[in-house]
Amino acid sequence: MDEKDIGTKVIPVLTLPMGVGGDSHSNIRALQRLLQLLDSPELCDVIDGQPVSKAHLGDSSGYGASPVETTNTVRKRFKVDLTGNHDKAFVELTEDHLLPQLKREDPLFGAFNDKAQEALEWQLHVYQRAEMRGFTYYDYFRELPRMVEVNGTLLVHGSPRKPITEYIRPNYVTMPDILRKIFEQVPKAVAVAHTHFSMLILYDPKKGSNNRFYWAWGPEVVSEGVLEELPDVVFSPDDLSEPIHANVRVLAKSKLNGYKAVINFGSIGQPRDNCPLAKGGIITQEGYFFLRVPYDTYGAAADIIRVGLPPILGWRLIDGDERNKKANGGVRTLYETDDAFQKRFAQEMATRGVDYPLPQQYSSIKI
Ligand SMILES: [Fe+2]
Ligand SMILES: [Fe+2]
Repeated sequence: MDEKDIGTKVIPVLTLPMGVGGDSHSNIRALQRLLQLLDSPELCDVIDGQPVSKAHLGDSSGYGASPVETTNTVRKRFKVDLTGNHDKAFVELTEDHLLPQLKREDPLFGAFNDKAQEALEWQLHVYQRAEMRGFTYYDYFRELPRMVEVNGTLLVHGSPRKPITEYIRPNYVTMPDILRKIFEQVPKAVAVAHTHFSMLILYDPKKGSNNRFYWAWGPEVVSEGVLEELPDVVFSPDDLSEPIHANVRVLAKSKLNGYKAVINFGSIGQPRDNCPLAKGGIITQEGYFFLRVPYDTYGAAADIIRVGLPPILGWRLIDGDERNKKANGGVRTLYETDDAFQKRFAQEMATRGVDYPLPQQYSSIKI
């Protein structure tokens, strides 16, 4: 797929209010909990009882233990799914969908870390075994659109200019020229995924070169250090934890008020923003709701251990962290060497009847 050809497909079936989530990454437990929330009467109340159409922003594949169930659920429950980089890799790294062989020499394969590569290879065979007469996951992923527009809001996995590969990270607020180019392609707003971070960046088209960029990440609201300028526009701290029913929270509400927005609701199935809850959102005519819902993270990790994928793919679900990357800067302990974490994890696996081989240094720990 050519990243320069970014034709936008208009999908008329999608209407506002719209439930949005992406990066399910074969985590069926997280996906089901988010869907339960999107269909719940409590949420309907928040959006005045209107029905919610649903869009998935890609990457239903990759990493987790339940690729077939997750992709099938996305196919059936979401009106649209988009191409994520894992979905694209599934297609491009496969020689022939009838006799799938992974193209290991392809640079695209080399771009994934070794754990993601292991999951990708395993999933290739799992998807193939589940294929039914007249249906292939190869065709499903190959035919996914890369970008759609709903009432002036673009939906895309990466960014409007590179729909599958660009990561719009929080540090883009320090790069106004890049952001300006992105916003030139955005009618009103764009909902993105791919980074697995929750984030909001706003842009005032009326202010031209004096524009300011704001962002929110996790429970924090940050704006180039000038929080006072925000209140009537975006968040107020009181909005940040508005419960809609037990354990489910609208993290934040945002009103557009003439601003263009880049919205990332975060990842459904593999958060990397230090908050392990399954994440998604609602887009309405007026603004956005960031949703977070707890699910059985240890259960999802047990699924991963059970099918023999690398344990780190399960560990990282527990605290929604990219600990190994951060540990490289000396900030955090690696999962492998965190005694308390490993003991707790082993206990949780034991209660789920999963045989968990503790890392070498803890193999003598009694649990
Ligand atoms: Fe991605
Ligand atoms: Fe992803």
